[in-house]
Amino acid sequence: MALDPGHDLTHRVALVTGAGSGIGRGIAQRLAAFGAQVVVADISEVGGDETVRRVESDGGAARFKRTDVTVKADAEAMVAAALEHFGRVDYLVNNAGLVTMTPFLDLPEEEWDLVMNVNLKGQFLCAQAFGRALVQAGHGGAIVNLGSVEGEVVAASGDHCQPHYNASKGGVKMLTKALAFELAPHGIRVNGVNPGTIDTRFAGDLHASPRAIEYTMGRSLLKRFGEPIDVARAVHFLLSDNASFVTGTMLAVDAGWLVQ
Ligand SMILES: NC(=O)c1ccc[n+]([C@@H]2O[C@H](COP(=O)([O-])OP(=O)(O)OC[C@H]3O[C@@H](n4cnc5c(N)ncnc54)[C@H](O)[C@@H]3O)[C@@H](O)[C@H]2O)c1
Repeated sequence: MALDPGHDLTHRVALVTGAGSGIGRGIAQRLAAFGAQVVVADISEVGGDETVRRVESDGGAARFKRTDVTVKADAEAMVAAALEHFGRVDYLVNNAGLVTMTPFLDLPEEEWDLVMNVNLKGQFLCAQAFGRALVQAGHGGAIVNLGSVEGEVVAASGDHCQPHYNASKGGVKMLTKALAFELAPHGIRVNGVNPGTIDTRFAGDLHASPRAIEYTMGRSLLKRFGEPIDVARAVHFLLSDNASFVTGTMLAVDAGWLVQ
């Protein structure tokens, strides 16, 4: 069967933050498999190099650029590296993110700042650097931001939730809508994905916690954890020409988590 041309990313250049692990690595591999040249942007050189190795061993093209998304100069250097090595930029995936599990009443200010800075400010800085380059290039493009079901509802497998994480991902939802408004005149679509529980380092050792398994399976209508490829397929769709009439939306990739 012929490849759906709307899914083809040949000659396109994608920046993926947090691509040194988990969902970001899966996104980098997916986009490269469909022809994109990928900048693997991560604070971890070891993880980023491993992603590049995997993309290249599958026959794709990728380069690692060490990037701390909370640092404006790094966000700008990430975009510059893409222009230098691949000659253009088309797509940005704002994927870098983290969580800490400290209960609210004990949460130090530094942890609040860390989670907000990586998950929300980082998306702002990278989108601004990317948007400026794309407006200058004048050919349009697309952004996908990683939100979470926890940007929509409070989720807690134990006695506590993570208010700082909820606040950051709720912010991602509104940042996505506002940037869709701001960047549409420049031919730049902006969407997001809200994953449910995806089996990565971020989600912890899910399999070792009967309570986490019970909670997640209770929320998952499909009775399984997600894998990075589940999210990567959705991100690929939202970036691709098949989503050319889609902007300002958050797509749940959550096995029905938000239904109940
Ligand atoms: N795994 C899940 O269940 C789940 C669910 C919903 C949303 N998400 C979101 O998906 C995204 C990816 O999560 P994951 O599960 O792959 O996590 P992960 O921990 O496996 O990967 C996160 C990557 O981000 C990188 N990173 C951290 N801080 C950074 C910084 N300041 N600058 C650049 N890179 C940085 C890490 O080095 C790592 O490679 C996050 O935004 C997370 O909030 C994950």
